[in-house]
Amino acid sequence: MTFRPHYHFAPPFGWMNDPNGLCQYNGVYHLFYQYHPFGVDWDDMHWGHATSTDLIRWEHKPIALRPGLDYDQDGVFSGSALVKDGVLHLYYTGNVWLDEKRETLRQVQCLATSADGNTFKKHLDNPIISGEPARGNAHVRDPKVWDQEGRYYMVLGTRDATDGKVVLYDSDDAIHWSERGVIAGETGEHGWMWECPDLFHLDGHDVLLLSPQGMEQDGDRYHNLHQCGYFVGHLDLNAPLFTHGTFTELDYGHDFYAAQTFLDERGRRILIAWNAMWERDWPEQAEGWTNQMTIPRELSLRNGRLYMTPIEEMASLRQTSQRLAGPKFEGDAFELSFDTEADFQFACFGETATFSKSGNTLELTRGHEVRRLQASGRTFRIFVDASSIEVFVNDGEFVFSSRVYPSEKRTHQLTGDVTATLHRY
Ligand code: FRU
Repeated sequence: MTFRPHYHFAPPFGWMNDPNGLCQYNGVYHLFYQYHPFGVDWDDMHWGHATSTDLIRWEHKPIALRPGLDYDQDGVFSGSALVKDGVLHLYYTGNVWLDEKRETLRQVQCLATSADGNTFKKHLDNPIISGEPARGNAHVRDPKVWDQEGRYYMVLGTRDATDGKVVLYDSDDAIHWSERGVIAGETGEHGWMWECPDLFHLDGHDVLLLSPQGMEQDGDRYHNLHQCGYFVGHLDLNAPLFTHGTFTELDYGHDFYAAQTFLDERGRRILIAWNAMWERDWPEQAEGWTNQMTIPRELSLRNGRLYMTPIEEMASLRQTSQRLAGPKFEGDAFELSFDTEADFQFACFGETATFSKSGNTLELTRGHEVRRLQASGRTFRIFVDASSIEVFVNDGEFVFSSRVYPSEKRTHQLTGDVTATLHRY
């Protein structure tokens, strides 16, 4: 028995965190990721690399970026991709520790390019941005770059003593950048650091996706150590300012962080997140690897909410599809789908995790850790894969993503007045 997923992306060995540099370049999808190849714990970050033609079946590639130059000697941190003039541009944060205890650091923004998607060269002008932003501090990282109306824009996550924020830069050549100022944050209620910002236009609005650290629990909300969520609003590039409504958690499970999106060649806005959370146990480390990504989701904005729907390519994984005959069944990798107004409970891998609908309460429980949402669910797609569960409610209106670690039971049970279809993967 292994915790290794059948259809989720996981590193071949070693430690993985955030997805980086997501893009489609010359028809091929690229996934880079925060990677430590020399051990199962987080340490000096590299960019691991994989490619795919369908976002599901990934081919592992050689490591794309390694730490080692004076400006990135202790880590090639998170960032994004831009395709410009046929050249793949990767923007990342170079990390340098300034003391042995790794309490103080210097973070600068860097560029690497590739003309073939296989080999990557760090730019001679690196670092392309250095120094702290006017209203930030040494924690300034995770560049997300895009082009809009003939100019290039970059957002970075940063902080001051109390508040997380996002700062905007612009450029005419995607190499030389000017700081334009803080466009969001400093709210006093959304944590002390904003990691992995992503800003994009979707269905007539602008969306700021971010991973804030340090938000307090509030009723059923914000039970994970750090959050991942979004604001819907409007980006005024001249002011510059992002005006927005309230913060919404993007996923209600135990393991979802550092989400990043990209626009594919078909015009879909696709999101992949790290299917994990910092500072917990990782039982798969006994097998020599740590962490997986979520399944890719297509985003849409409906009534002011971000919906995350599994990409349609997922259906190509279905080996067999049949009506579920009784409440109990076995399996390691499958999707269970059904529509229901009735209450139900799905017990996954014995009782390792349970997902239930009871009236207007949706709940995913793992051991003693409950994640609860007051919302009505009508349609359900539950994806299980060796050591994870992702539940998509109402076509992605609400999603719960968690890792689960079964001891030995591969048996599941669906109870309630529900007619479900089991798709084996
Ligand atoms: C988010 C994060 C990023 C950083 C990276 C380092 O999980 O902390 O802010 O760039 O991980 O691995």
